[in-house]
Amino acid sequence: MPKYMNTTTTIPVITIDGPSGVGKGAVSLRVAHHLGWHTLDSGALYRVLAIASTQRAIAANQETALANLASQMEVQLIALPDFSDTRVILANSEVTAELRTETCGQLASQLATLPAVRQALLERQRAFRKPPGLVAEGRDLGTVVFPTAPVKIFLTASVEARAQRRYHQLQQKGIAVTLEHLLNEITQRDQRDRTRQVAPLIATSDMVVIDTTGLSIEKVVALILNNWSPKHLLAPN
Ligand code: C5P
Repeated sequence: MPKYMNTTTTIPVITIDGPSGVGKGAVSLRVAHHLGWHTLDSGALYRVLAIASTQRAIAANQETALANLASQMEVQLIALPDFSDTRVILANSEVTAELRTETCGQLASQLATLPAVRQALLERQRAFRKPPGLVAEGRDLGTVVFPTAPVKIFLTASVEARAQRRYHQLQQKGIAVTLEHLLNEITQRDQRDRTRQVAPLIATSDMVVIDTTGLSIEKVVALILNNWSPKHLLAPN
């Protein structure tokens, strides 16, 4: 049996971390599509927890109750067949549209500061590592969730470019919002994600940093794929 088939930890993973609006979602889906691999939108798990906790009126400071909910909630993340988006189902209800609002993102980033919540979501995220491989995106995928991943990418872009992208995405989805409001929300969420005590958003020296400002999705996908080679399958990781 080839070495890479031996254990779960040798199933290849490409991690893609970065701040909000940097294009992680679209890029990850396309990289996964190209390789024929699975995807993990880890932010969707934090966002779905925000929705589930609101439904149950659990406050953002009830850490134990939130951690229990995080480990028990029934979630399905389904990449569309053309890999253009991920559908999110919470206990048989579609929550994809609600999930993408900035209100949901803000609450998700508050809940994401709680260590017990992060711990509860850790194993759930690792369970997405299935053959033939996984493209996983978020804030701490390369540092905490899959620290041994053979390819780790960190995407950056100016806050203005990110707000602009998010603005177009939300407009396309029919969600009304102003650019100024988005700039404020994204800046605030970035600050929280970068400065929190547990698993802050950070680029480490083993990550390939790509500034996506002014780059097309196709170009970013090509740059990421340049870092992947099947020889990684045989290297210990
Ligand atoms: O990526 P997305 O904007 O959907 O993530 C929503 C929030 O979830 C982020 O602002 C962040 O606080 C949190 N998150 C996280 N760790 C991850 C993914 C998302 O803390 N791996």
